[in-house]
Amino acid sequence: MSIALIVVYNAFVKNKTAYITDYLRKLTNAIHGWTALDELAFLYRTAQLQKKGGVIVEIGSWQGRSTVCMAKGSEHGNGARIYAIDPFTGSSENQIPGVKIWTRDDFERNLEKTDTKALVTTLAMTSDDAAKSWDRPIDFLFIDGAHEYEYVKNDFLLFSPYVVDGGIIAFHDTTPNLKAILQGLPLFGLPGPRQVVWEYVFKQRTFKNIGLSGSILYATKCNANSFADRLKNNLCGLEMLAKYMVYALYVRLKKIPGPIKSLLKPIKSSFSR
Ligand SMILES: C[S@@+](CC[C@H](N)C(=O)[O-])C[C@H]1O[C@@H](n2cnc3c(N)ncnc32)[C@H](O)[C@@H]1O
Repeated sequence: MSIALIVVYNAFVKNKTAYITDYLRKLTNAIHGWTALDELAFLYRTAQLQKKGGVIVEIGSWQGRSTVCMAKGSEHGNGARIYAIDPFTGSSENQIPGVKIWTRDDFERNLEKTDTKALVTTLAMTSDDAAKSWDRPIDFLFIDGAHEYEYVKNDFLLFSPYVVDGGIIAFHDTTPNLKAILQGLPLFGLPGPRQVVWEYVFKQRTFKNIGLSGSILYATKCNANSFADRLKNNLCGLEMLAKYMVYALYVRLKKIPGPIKSLLKPIKSSFSR
């Protein structure tokens, strides 16, 4: 019985996941951004699951790497509309003295190139300004704007009240994405998103099915979670903690001398596969 399940899993689920990852790799190959393939696959699948007439809001689009994946997911699903909110002037970590950051042109070009324009409404402004006239229920909210605590909290407080019961909220950069880090992507988890999810997702009674996909933490909004929901949520909290511990260990291991490092190489490569 278990062998049959493994065969079915390999034949369908694993192959389908590999297929989507491959598809998204090609789609986003030339689009600059910091969202890893496993995270893009999560965004794609979640967008694909949204209902006809559904609303997806993305705070922080940069050059459209995550936006196009959600748009393709939605196109292959039920056509939910994506509202991409970004002033296109970059966050604090993107600023270079004497250089004006402007990513709107690349963003538009990338939507054009991937043929995803039709499902995306661009709100070229800050989340504060977008919230002033926002009045729609949201089915899926993805927060990836400025990463300082006050900004992430502000984005959450401005838009989470519009997320419907059963809707999904996801935050980028909450937790080290170990696979991506081994591939050289700087996805270590950041203090701002981490503190916000701790205070406003784990500690509140209005979220269930908290889970991790790479550095993304996602949760389903609900009226009041049950004891069983909280237990399950806490398991995800433990997973998050474990990933921070593994990452801390990795940073220490990186400092050890070369000969010992080469002994650990097989472990490293088995992780990054
Ligand atoms: C990390 S990037 C987003 C990356 C994008 N999601 C991707 O997958 O490539 C953060 C973006 O947030 C935007 N941003 C900064 N402050 C913002 C604010 N107050 N409201 C909306 N977007 C903001 C920046 O302009 C920047 O493009």
